[in-house]
Amino acid sequence: MNRSVTVHAPASVSNVGPGFDILGFALDGMGDKITLSTREDEQYVIEAVGAELPMNPEKNVATVGLRSLCNHLGYKGGFDIKIEKNFTPGSGLGSSASSAAGAVFAANELLLAGLTKDELVPFALDGEVVASKNRHADNIAPCMLGGFVAVKGCDPFDAFSVDYPNDLKVLIVFPDVPIKTAEAREILPKSIGMATGISQSANMAGLITGLMRSDYELIRNSLHDEFAQPYRKQLIPHYDEVSDLAYAHEAVGFNISGSGPAMFGLFKAQAETKALKTAIEKIYNQADIGIQFHESGINHRGVEHLR
Ligand code: HSE
Repeated sequence: MNRSVTVHAPASVSNVGPGFDILGFALDGMGDKITLSTREDEQYVIEAVGAELPMNPEKNVATVGLRSLCNHLGYKGGFDIKIEKNFTPGSGLGSSASSAAGAVFAANELLLAGLTKDELVPFALDGEVVASKNRHADNIAPCMLGGFVAVKGCDPFDAFSVDYPNDLKVLIVFPDVPIKTAEAREILPKSIGMATGISQSANMAGLITGLMRSDYELIRNSLHDEFAQPYRKQLIPHYDEVSDLAYAHEAVGFNISGSGPAMFGLFKAQAETKALKTAIEKIYNQADIGIQFHESGINHRGVEHLR
């Protein structure tokens, strides 16, 4: 008889200012619901709900990750995989990471393979590479493990969790403009100067320390990116205006989420964001650009089995 498991894989914010390709956190209230079932044959059959996704198993991040894990396990059976999305792919919120991490986690549960979440990351990365054309784990790792995760290396995978203030709140601002991760990487310089490297390292150290000590002033002074944000913000209409507004409304940090177009602001839980959202809405309405918001805490559980 065919068996089935359903998992939830959270959306995630990567880069987080100075942590280009190495720092990310998982988001509550947004993510993929993935149902994986065994089949009698050896086919991988994809069903997508809520978004248009590649139906070819060689091109879908979830099935590529799944295939990589099954090759490792020596499992030759097929699967039906249903991917239910409640957020838009290409938004900068780790959509491909959610699908890839969710699929390999589900297979590990379904096949009782017994791998740890850390051990599953490389297989999910094999899937995510299909979308981003680059091997970085700053979405996969927080999606899998939850909370803030800093990635020291992908080959072999090496990462550590970073403590953060319990009362941290996130506001996602998502203007309706298309940006592809692979293209947003193309526009970045291939090398950086020493002064830029020093300043980015100092900010990364400051941000991690600020998060661990719940030192909001240090977080605010450190959450800056000199590697990607100066180039990518040109792809996001009104970025500077929205950033200025966020800081004027008590943000303790604001930047591009992943490769955009979504942006994120960090706030203390008690901060009032209604006036900020109204002001941002006005900017995008005037420019005739659709705008969505998502407000939540940090997801500390990562991908999980829904029973
Ligand atoms: N760190 C990646 C980037 C995240 O900024 O390109 C998007 O996959």
